Parts: sequence; C-alpha cells; structure tokens
Amino acid sequence: MLHVVDHPLVQHKLTLMRRRETSTNNFRRMLGEIGALMAYEVTRDMPMQLVDIDTPLERMQSPLIDGKKLVFVPILRAGTGLLDGFLSVIPAARVGHVGLYRDPDTLAAVEYYFKMPQQMHERDVIVLDPMLATGNSAVAAITRIKATHPRSIRFVCLVASPEGVRNFAGAHPDVAVYTAAVDRQLNAHGYIVPGLGDAGDRIFGTT
Ligand code: URA
Repeated sequence: MLHVVDHPLVQHKLTLMRRRETSTNNFRRMLGEIGALMAYEVTRDMPMQLVDIDTPLERMQSPLIDGKKLVFVPILRAGTGLLDGFLSVIPAARVGHVGLYRDPDTLAAVEYYFKMPQQMHERDVIVLDPMLATGNSAVAAITRIKATHPRSIRFVCLVASPEGVRNFAGAHPDVAVYTAAVDRQLNAHGYIVPGLGDAGDRIFGTT
C-alpha cells in the first residue's frame, strides 16, 4: 500500500529541499525535520499497551508505545539523513543498518553491510531511504530484513518514482510505503526527475 504524506509542512520543506541553491546545511536540517513529521505519520496505527499510572489525583490506565520494539533501519548512506528526525520522536528505538550501493552499470543493489538488533521476531521495522528510484536497493534491503523475521516492516522515503513504486509493490506487496511525493519518472541514469538530485551528496556535501 502506498501512502503519500501530503501534509503542508512536509510539502513545504520538500519544495525547499528540491531547490538547486539550497545549502547542504539547510538540506540536512530539513530532511531531519521531515523525518520527524514522517515518523508521526508512519506510527499513526502502532500498537499501544495500557499501563497503570498514578496522576497527582488518582490511579488510571493510560496508553504507551513500546519504543524499544521499534527498529529504524537506514539504508546507507542517504537513509541516515532521515534517522535523526525519527529518533527525535522515538528516542528509545533500536537502529539497524543496511549498506547497499548501486552498481553504476547495472543499477543493481550490492550489499556491503548488514547489522540488526537481537530478537527481530518481536520488533516492528521502519526502513529509511530518501529516494525510491529504481527500487532495487529498497527491494534488496527488505528481502534481507525479512529473512530476520520481524513482526512488521514499513518503508519510508521522501521522493519516489512510479517505476520504483511498481518494482517495490511487485516484490513486496505486503510492505507499506510512505512517501512525500511520487515524481514524474526515472531518467536514463536512474535519477528521479524532477527529484532533488543525489540525496547522499546533498546531505553530506560531496558533490
Ligand atoms: N538516488 C538519489 O539520491 N537520487 C535519485 O534521484 C535517485 C537515486
């Protein structure tokens, strides 16, 4: 299932991020801010448990989320740009990492790093990568994470291509995708257009 997060705060920041002249500093800061807003949307239906608490006036049952059950998994390296925003909202979450790079000739995803917390079967995973372009990296990351048997998996990006959305849905129809925009298309180099350029380069100033 595809969720387009069309909240004005997200759309406004995305417009500023797309601009060629936006500095590395501002790009990174706004990606963090959008991360926090996307975390709000993607956790909207998270399970909660009622706990007994004492207010200054009386005892009551009140809902809590179990943040430790959540695992945020940025796909290296651009996914780390969303991580701080997610952790600012749910600081108790665990963090796993998947390292993938795109083979420049075939655009296939090649894994070079994979590290998850223990007891994945009782955890809810949120995979982070700003750009769902060909979808190859996201599909490979989710396939690898599924092998650890987490309780659930969701995928969060900032900008998706129609090709990436189709590829992802074909491979993992059971994994919900949250994005701020679905752009027109991929270009011949596998970049999303109009897009925002290379997210990793724009976060880290490596152009
Ligand atoms: N990765 C990016 O960073 N940008 C794109 O447009 C496509 C893939």
